[in-house]
Amino acid sequence: MERIDEDQWEMIAEVDDIPEGEPYQWMIGDDEVALYRVDGEIYATDNWCTHADARLSNGCLKGHEVECPLHSGRFDIRTGKALCEPLTEDVKTYPVRVLDGCVYAKKI
Ligand code: FES
Repeated sequence: MERIDEDQWEMIAEVDDIPEGEPYQWMIGDDEVALYRVDGEIYATDNWCTHADARLSNGCLKGHEVECPLHSGRFDIRTGKALCEPLTEDVKTYPVRVLDGCVYAKKI
């Protein structure tokens, strides 16, 4: 049976808290993040676009890409990679794991 090291991982949500296919604002420690559920997998990025003042949790999720609501920059939520203009900087990603229906984030 898989176990999780609770010294290193903190439960932050239940999988069912996160809607499939749309970004969701959440906190990991003091960091505001966007959580995404795609095909049952969970991903996490910083919630703020690297271009200007916009929350990615207000953006649109298409497959594994989130589109910023302000200027339509797109990031790959798996890697944080900036995929198009006007973005010039990748967004931070956070390691998350799912076990028994719970989402765990690496402690920071
Ligand atoms: S603020 Fe996100 S693309 Fe400009």
